[in-house]
Amino acid sequence: MERTYLMVKPDGVQRGLVGEIMSRFEKKGLKLVAAKLMVIPKETAEKHYAEHKDKKFFPSLISYITSGPVFAMVWEGENAVQVCRNIMGKTNPQESAPGTIRGDYCMVTGVNIIHGSDSPESAAREIGIFFRPEDLVDYKRDSDKWIY
Ligand code: PPS
Repeated sequence: MERTYLMVKPDGVQRGLVGEIMSRFEKKGLKLVAAKLMVIPKETAEKHYAEHKDKKFFPSLISYITSGPVFAMVWEGENAVQVCRNIMGKTNPQESAPGTIRGDYCMVTGVNIIHGSDSPESAAREIGIFFRPEDLVDYKRDSDKWIY
């Protein structure tokens, strides 16, 4: 089973969409492993988005992601990274298909409601930035036999 890091961004929290967003991953069959509401310290945000530090949008990205609480989550499932990215839709909401989270709930890349890891390697790195190993809950779900 693979794990991925997802985060409802400040716009999603402010707009009251956390429950709706979690519900989509839950209904799909992914398993929740950890979750918390938090305001990201600037240094942590810079570490999380380090690969984009030379991009023009970096300062606005950091200011947006630290502007209010985010809802940080770890989800688990077969091919979880790609499955979750499919549910999220493309980075640019104007290109995201209807039915995806970004396709349904937002309009511009600068305020695109949700983050999801783009590879299993990024997922391991991002989970390590936002959660301690003891925050990740290992448990069995009886419903898995109806999902896999
Ligand atoms: S790139 O240039 O292709 O590597 O960037 P991309 O993968 O499209 O986006 C990287 C993250 O930066 C966010 N982003 C932006 N934020 C604010 N303003 C602008 N213009 C902008 N463009 C991209 C984008 O949403 C990605 O963040 P996450 O959290 O992964 O969605």
